[in-house]
Amino acid sequence: MQKNKSKHCEYISAEKKSSKMECDFLTAKSAEKVYDFVSTSDDYSCTPLVALDSLADRYGVKKIYVKDESKRMGLNAFKGVGVFYGVARIICEKLGLDISETSFSDFMKPEINEKLRKLTFIAATDGNHGNGLAYVTKMIGCKCVIYMPKNTTKPRVDLIREKGAEVFVTEYNYDDTLRLVIDKAAESGWVHFQDQAWEGYKEITNLISEGYTIIAHECMKQMNEDGVSQPTHIILQAGAGTFAFGILGYFVNVLSDSKPQMIISEPKNANCYYQSAIKKEYINVTGELETIMAGLAVGEANIAAYDYLYNWVDGYASCDDVVSARGMRILANPIGDDKKVVSGESGALGFGLLSMICDHEDYSDIKEKCNIDENSIVLLISTEGNTDPEMYEKIVWNGAYNII
Ligand SMILES: Cc1ncc(COP(=O)(O)O)c(C=O)c1O
Repeated sequence: MQKNKSKHCEYISAEKKSSKMECDFLTAKSAEKVYDFVSTSDDYSCTPLVALDSLADRYGVKKIYVKDESKRMGLNAFKGVGVFYGVARIICEKLGLDISETSFSDFMKPEINEKLRKLTFIAATDGNHGNGLAYVTKMIGCKCVIYMPKNTTKPRVDLIREKGAEVFVTEYNYDDTLRLVIDKAAESGWVHFQDQAWEGYKEITNLISEGYTIIAHECMKQMNEDGVSQPTHIILQAGAGTFAFGILGYFVNVLSDSKPQMIISEPKNANCYYQSAIKKEYINVTGELETIMAGLAVGEANIAAYDYLYNWVDGYASCDDVVSARGMRILANPIGDDKKVVSGESGALGFGLLSMICDHEDYSDIKEKCNIDENSIVLLISTEGNTDPEMYEKIVWNGAYNII
């Protein structure tokens, strides 16, 4: 155990409540439906689940699994799979097709593709959602318009432009950029495809969450193949919570009688779930939302996800940037025979939190509150790889954002 001077993670246990509130579109069946469609594309393959056994020994837990979503669809992040399924569902709706009888190759048929070429999708994004949408729309043949918040780094903009999307960087933070896109979509009649929900806009984001169930389904299958029946703990990072909703919804359905401990981690400057848990009501976080975790810089929780997550989640952590930076460094420099995982700023937060509470005695109270001990099987999802090479080098090579 190392000593640490100031608190980089704050944690609040959730109030006791029923964990039985299942969501009917986040189930094992949903995951199979998602798989049946997305696996018809050559771009689909199951991403690796890395077992960090040497680190588990050091941290005094039974198992640590990290799902490496940098390998998802060649996009360096998890987002593409939710976007792919969601876009496909919207297209099926528009063309009167049934997704369970549709394959990706149907979209390539000339009579269908001609209609798809007339469709434009628009979204606000910090990077990964827009990158996924640009990729999927290009693959299918639709047009794509993307708006990004100020302070978006050039590599993130370039990545999306390279895929043929029209990209604009605004003068606003993410939430205000989203408001701008809502107006643009209303003016243009384009399909507003957002990974965030608000009153009157839930359908698309729910489809994206449904798409993410395939990630959870793969984790269960891979753990079972490794002789492990289920995780006891799942620590996920949240921006709007659309991702956590899909993943945790699946586990609540599949493991309803042995629900794992579910923990949400957020950046301190964009900790809307943590603040809501403290105030016991839905709270928006405003301002610059400044953090290196660009994908998590969201101050408004997805309202379609919020009530469910409130019911399922056992605790919320609010973390400084140094927590994810530490997670990135440890994943990049494994011990023993453990495999390296390349994880970006937003991808490494859940793991960074685990590393802090297992390695530093100042955080052992959080470890206790989470009931993490020698029997724990902890599942983490590294949701992105090295999506910002300059920042990755600064952190992993040059030690920026150190806890000392
Ligand atoms: C890498 C990464 N991880 C996690 C998230 C969080 O997803 P959500 O906003 O659905 O909570 C994002 C969102 O963009 C992301 O880009």
